[in-house]
Amino acid sequence: MRVIVTGGAGFLGRLLIEGLQADGADDIVVVEIADADIPGCRVIQGDLAHDDILPALINDEPCTIFHLASVVSAGAEADWEHAVDQNLGGMLRLLEACRHSDHLHKVVFASTLAVFGGFTAGGNVGDVVKQTPSGTYGTTKAIGELLINDATRKGHIDGRSARLPTVIVRSGAPNAAASGFASGMFREPLAGLASVVPVGEGTVMVLGSAQNTATCIQMLAEVNGDDLGHDRAVGVPGLSATVSEMLAVLEKVGGPEARSLVELAYDAEIDALVRSWPAVLDDTRGRKLGLPADLDLESMVRAYVETLNH
Ligand SMILES: NC(=O)c1ccc[n+]([C@@H]2O[C@H](COP(=O)([O-])OP(=O)(O)OC[C@H]3O[C@@H](n4cnc5c(N)ncnc54)[C@H](O)[C@@H]3O)[C@@H](O)[C@H]2O)c1
Repeated sequence: MRVIVTGGAGFLGRLLIEGLQADGADDIVVVEIADADIPGCRVIQGDLAHDDILPALINDEPCTIFHLASVVSAGAEADWEHAVDQNLGGMLRLLEACRHSDHLHKVVFASTLAVFGGFTAGGNVGDVVKQTPSGTYGTTKAIGELLINDATRKGHIDGRSARLPTVIVRSGAPNAAASGFASGMFREPLAGLASVVPVGEGTVMVLGSAQNTATCIQMLAEVNGDDLGHDRAVGVPGLSATVSEMLAVLEKVGGPEARSLVELAYDAEIDALVRSWPAVLDDTRGRKLGLPADLDLESMVRAYVETLNH
């Protein structure tokens, strides 16, 4: 079966593709705006939101489409027009291609806990809590989730949305996510470089490891649609931690030298956006559906260190 990954050259896309290949997928097509070379994949360079790429890819057989292409949080706050154009435009173009296809395609959409905000800011959320996003990014993702539910109800797709926690430790260059410091505060000091944390030490984040999150996205495609019911959006398991707990783990894994490389330089705008996200996720539904969870923060960071040694 053909697998299509939009935004597949990104951080999570590459990990997801490795997992799919390890499980035997051998017809993977990546739709990616950036120029990229991904081992074992056909890469079609283009803009999902504006170029007519998908119809020709999904004509022959039912496919599984992982939709990861997105403008992310701080980038979306900085440029509303671009975020709406890309995130809603990309989703509509994808759903339109599926609606006109002769086959029923599975679509797994990478959503986010940033669909929550407003009265749930810094609070406890789960899959039955109302979505009141406090940012443009979360708003476009919440709309995407609703469109996935409706397209599934109409029989245009068999859809699922994975509400992802903040993923650490992101390797490579940071993207425009407001949560980027949560990776940088481990990645940079563990490489002997300085890093800045723009939020307060008491700020709480819901975190997932890169590997576990990519596995959950892949597994969500395998979940029986009837078990999901009408609401196809699932909270992917994540752990809560304050920034000071994250700093303590950095010190435990990297020593006091690593900890000393982190500077706390408060940025009220970033802190407000991060604090608008939930602090605790009730992931009971995701776990019941078989999605795995990380053990603890320290093992997440140590797993990242392991990847550096290979
Ligand atoms: N990493 C996280 O912490 C996190 C948390 C919650 C949700 N998510 C979601 O997961 C997905 C993947 O995240 P990531 O961290 O890998 O992001 P990323 O920025 O590393 O990857 C996104 C990829 O999408 C591509 N892209 C963007 N617009 C495109 C377009 N119009 N057409 C084709 N390709 C396009 C980018 O070039 C990039 O390679 C995103 O949808 C993101 O919103 C990520």
